[in-house]
Amino acid sequence: MTATSTIDISDKRLVLVLGKGGVGRSTLAAALAGQNAARGKKTLLFETNANDRFGSYFDKPAVGTSMTELAPNLSAVNTNPAAALEEYGLMILKFKSVYEMVFENKITKAFLRAIPGLDDYALIGKAWFHTEETKRGHAVWDTLVFDMPASGHSVSMLKIPWVITETVPDGPLTRDARTMKQLLTDPSRTAAIIVTLAEEMPVNEAIELEQKLTAIGIVTQHVIVNQVYPEHFPPGSAIAKVLEALVAEPNLPSPLAELVQQARLSRDRHALNAAYLTEIRARAKAPVHELPMIFTSQLSPAQVRALGEKI
Ligand SMILES: Nc1ncnc2c1ncn2[C@@H]1O[C@H](COP(=O)(O)OP(=O)(O)O)[C@@H](O)[C@H]1O
Ligand SMILES: [Mg+2]
Repeated sequence: MTATSTIDISDKRLVLVLGKGGVGRSTLAAALAGQNAARGKKTLLFETNANDRFGSYFDKPAVGTSMTELAPNLSAVNTNPAAALEEYGLMILKFKSVYEMVFENKITKAFLRAIPGLDDYALIGKAWFHTEETKRGHAVWDTLVFDMPASGHSVSMLKIPWVITETVPDGPLTRDARTMKQLLTDPSRTAAIIVTLAEEMPVNEAIELEQKLTAIGIVTQHVIVNQVYPEHFPPGSAIAKVLEALVAEPNLPSPLAELVQQARLSRDRHALNAAYLTEIRARAKAPVHELPMIFTSQLSPAQVRALGEKI
């Protein structure tokens, strides 16, 4: 039997993976999507404007703007505002020639570029479109995992449907925006997952992000604390006692002194992570999960899969 994660997104249509830059958002989006696909769910990994990592995580070439299969039940797309807008334009205008006439027109282009939030609207609109996509009456995707942009940007992107319903007169645009809002604020279909680190700033930002999402009605269902330093010196263990005794020794010879210093750093780093884990557990509304730091220069597909199984 293959191991499965405790975070189960298989009943969700849309999973928003959020967090500040560099915490492991893309890695965990890939790990969660991989797990979901292994559970038999047709899963789409959706990223925007990214320097793609997904390809390498599944032993495949980098993912671009067209849909790429990464594994059984798992595809990915790495879109950008121009590509997403073109698809949207084509959807409305139906014909490439008409699209080119309208969207590739210099004046239209300048006009479109001047609309605030249009880029983000195109991106979130494309994601939403895939959550609704059907073929012969069946959903094309069971779950879309959205590797969102960094914290602040992702909140402004998610707010777009609200901006539209508040500012645009009733019509097809507001109808779509209302449907998007319903999906985003329905916790049985949409899960926000915040990725962070067990350090001061990332913890504060994660809590702030959870609050901002709550304010627009999006429920954070999990917080994942990534890259937790391993515990090499469990309190009370023989090895920890030896370290304490050596630390108390004032005149250690070299290189033992340096060795003890490094061991201390390792112990203290874990203690710091543990303290911030306690803090985030107390402050976050959503359940908090932790994942270990893997010591490697580049995560292999097997390591990403293992992270997915551990969550
Ligand atoms: N648990 C982990 N242990 C070790 N390295 C990790 C872990 N999670 C992510 N990484 C690495 O950290 C770097 C940043 O991860 P990435 O997922 O690209 O972050 P983000 O999308 O949040 O900017 C990558 O090199 C990734 O392989
Ligand atoms: Mg990323």
